[in-house]
Amino acid sequence: MEHLSFLDLIRDDLERVENLLRERPPGQHEAIGVAVDHLVDGGGKRVRPALVLLSTHFCGADVDKAIFAAAAVELLHTATLIHDDLIDGSLMRRGAQTLNAHWSPGATVLAGDYVFAHAAHLASRSGSTLLMQCFSETLMTICNGEVRQMFDGHRNQTSREEYEQRIHAKTASLISMSAQAGAILAQVETEKREALKIYGEQLGLVFQIVDDVLDFVADERVLGKPVGSDLRQGLVTLPVLLFLEDNPDHPAVCQALEGNSSDKVAREAIQAIAGSPAIERALAAAQEHADQAKAALSELSHSSYRAALLALVDFTVRRRF
Ligand code: IPE
Ligand code: IPE
Ligand code: MG
Ligand code: MG
Repeated sequence: MEHLSFLDLIRDDLERVENLLRERPPGQHEAIGVAVDHLVDGGGKRVRPALVLLSTHFCGADVDKAIFAAAAVELLHTATLIHDDLIDGSLMRRGAQTLNAHWSPGATVLAGDYVFAHAAHLASRSGSTLLMQCFSETLMTICNGEVRQMFDGHRNQTSREEYEQRIHAKTASLISMSAQAGAILAQVETEKREALKIYGEQLGLVFQIVDDVLDFVADERVLGKPVGSDLRQGLVTLPVLLFLEDNPDHPAVCQALEGNSSDKVAREAIQAIAGSPAIERALAAAQEHADQAKAALSELSHSSYRAALLALVDFTVRRRF
């Protein structure tokens, strides 16, 4: 993975988080241990724990407590990925086989549940009831977002507004909670927490819009997960919405969105969108949210941690994995 220099400030803390992620709770079934290690060792950008740690230093919160919060959000994220891959029928994640590729749906659900519970346990070790509260509210919001996508994510139900609500819930909520973690733990004035909340929400929108763009244009080997999977599922994301504005009757895309299209048609639809101006327009929308994320921090005190939070926004816009 490319060296992300804005993480240099928190390298040691991130190392401690890695150790926590690999801790095996007593009594954990060997199969769960192997499955979780496989996912954790598979990599991942660790964006959410990095946010917790940068926010912690920025707000002057207790780092020892924050380590637990950082590991908790990463495991919460990991658990959502286990369930998300099962729901999406996705067979590759972080360059390796997903759990659902070789386990039954039942076993996969249970492993995800176990990781959710482990995440909650880690969050409780931060000693902050307020953090626990935010943690559980965020998990409720994510599940609502995933259900919203399932029921309202297809053509004729998706407007720009619906899309934004969906990605706000499924992705931006956790990124925003991570960005607020330092403010929550340090119990800083509400103004600073509010600024970090908005920063995280906007960054989270950037994050998911770019993910949705990468689903069309990424190199699968770099991305570590399948490309073209959203459209194959008939899911309308921002590149699709923007493409449809200009080409409402494109035969392959319309067929793909109805589901059950042949692989040939799906490929044709993906190529049409990937080669269209919808990609640049979606990235421009991401850039607008990136600008808003940065603006949210403009009134806060300048420090190397604030600079790192701003650099994280730039990384998120231009990321290729
Ligand atoms: C993937 O998240 C799921 C989304 C919210 C788009 P990441 O892109 O953060 O995945 P990892 O943790 O780096 O693998
Ligand atoms: C993120 O959305 C889902 C979660 C919030 C769990 P995606 O379905 O786009 O994530 P990827 O692309 O599979 O990583
Ligand atoms: Mg998915
Ligand atoms: Mg995706």
